[in-house]
Amino acid sequence: MIKFILNSLLLLFFFGIVAASKDFDVVMGNKKFKTTNLLSAVYSQQVGDPSEGYHKAKFNLKTNLPSFNPDQSGVESVICKTEANGKRKIAFSLKDKKAAEDVKKWPERIMLLISHKWECFGKRSTQFFKATDRVIDESKLVTTFAIMRCDFPHNLEDYDININWVEGKQTNNNTRRSLEERFGISFPTINISNKIGLNILFDSASDKSSKPDISLINNKNIKLLCANCFTKGEAALALRIRGKIFPPKLKEASITLSGNLLVNLDFSLEAPKEISHEEKASINSPIASIKIGAFNIPGLLELGPEIDLVAAADALADARAALKFGGNFSLPNFSAKASFKGLPNFEQSGFNPIVNAHIPSASAKAFVIITATLKSQLAFGIKILEGRILNKKVGFELVGTLEDSFRLGSCKRKAHLHVKSSLGGNIGFFVNDKDFPILKFPTQSLIDKCL
Ligand SMILES: *[C@@H]1O[C@H](CO)[C@@H](O)[C@H](O)[C@H]1NC(C)=O
Ligand SMILES: *[C@@H]1O[C@H](CO)[C@@H](O)[C@H](O)[C@H]1NC(C)=O
Ligand SMILES: *[C@@H]1O[C@H](CO)[C@@H](O)[C@H](O)[C@H]1NC(C)=O
Ligand SMILES: *[C@@H]1O[C@H](CO)[C@@H](O)[C@H](O)[C@H]1NC(C)=O
Repeated sequence: MIKFILNSLLLLFFFGIVAASKDFDVVMGNKKFKTTNLLSAVYSQQVGDPSEGYHKAKFNLKTNLPSFNPDQSGVESVICKTEANGKRKIAFSLKDKKAAEDVKKWPERIMLLISHKWECFGKRSTQFFKATDRVIDESKLVTTFAIMRCDFPHNLEDYDININWVEGKQTNNNTRRSLEERFGISFPTINISNKIGLNILFDSASDKSSKPDISLINNKNIKLLCANCFTKGEAALALRIRGKIFPPKLKEASITLSGNLLVNLDFSLEAPKEISHEEKASINSPIASIKIGAFNIPGLLELGPEIDLVAAADALADARAALKFGGNFSLPNFSAKASFKGLPNFEQSGFNPIVNAHIPSASAKAFVIITATLKSQLAFGIKILEGRILNKKVGFELVGTLEDSFRLGSCKRKAHLHVKSSLGGNIGFFVNDKDFPILKFPTQSLIDKCL
């Protein structure tokens, strides 16, 4: 029995990983066999379990040729073939006689969108073709076209890409829960949610950093370690980009991120020697970078999310010291929207951090002041139509700054250290190399006492 549970766990875990790193799937439509001047395509990242939410994408494109997306009309299969004479053809299997009648009424020249669902001329990508010379075989329910690849931007005008998060249907009856009830074993929290994971350096088995004791400062007088630094959370994405293909013009561009995040910062500092003068040391360095390849519609949209964690610290000491200090802050329900057409514009809510200090331990002979900052940056490289009409890197950054001072002299008992600790932060947005501050959190005092 235990083996069975382990197997299911592995499966769930594997499923989660697969779901998080796969391309958007094509959602089939059930429209009529009609050509139109508005091509549309629908995609989703839905996995089997309906209790899990998922991201969904819609793509609309105005065309100046009558056009057709076979996926939206329930074409049963798409076959792309090169004939012996080198001529390239595309054939559709039609679903019934009615469809064949409808196809007969189509104009002479049309445009086709063939999605990445079909392997077509050796590619699984979004491809556009001009189709002519229609032949309909009514007995076999097959229609065949002579085609020519058509390079956007010709024949394509306005586009509109819209990605949203679709809430899952919360049932109290999923496998996980029934296993819990049957075996009385509480299931580990493996969340197979399809959101963007914001866990960096986080080990869910120990609830701690997967990379403890990252060295930030290490010179002969001061050693500062990120003893337990990580972020934990997840976010849903909404993205809307509208524009004109030729000449290229952005009409609307916005990105919204909503979710929850916890940042944990625990540091330890050692100044092993008596120093004859004040010693100051600084550092600013990336400590982790994770690529999440989760949002692709091949040939149409590439949205490469990437998380970077950067640590910065200043330490000022003039005595022998060994200190441990830290805190955490969480944003249980944040939402930030940035429109990045021209100068960015922001709307935000839920940036009221809940801050906790961890109890410090300290021994110092005079004074030590440390400012340590952890910056997490979630960036999206956005490419539309292989970067021909939009290619930008945009993202949000969240900064948590912990300031601690340890001093002798101001406590009633001379040998006691006066500890002050505060945590502040800010969020910002960036487009390519430009930064735009959104909000600065008020600095909160965490500790002000004698140890
Ligand atoms: C849970 O699912 C089982 C099997 O799918 C079904 O028989 C049962 O009625 C469901 N219970 C509830 C409360 O929906
Ligand atoms: C999974 O994530 C969803 C959405 O944030 C949350 O409501 C749910 O409690 C999580 N499940 C587990 C098992 O952590
Ligand atoms: C999160 O915040 C949004 C917007 O402020 C609100 O509509 C929603 O109910 C909140 N959700 C939770 C779980 O607090
Ligand atoms: C944040 O810090 C507080 C105080 O030490 C602690 O009780 C809490 O468990 C921490 N939260 C997390 C999620 O680590």
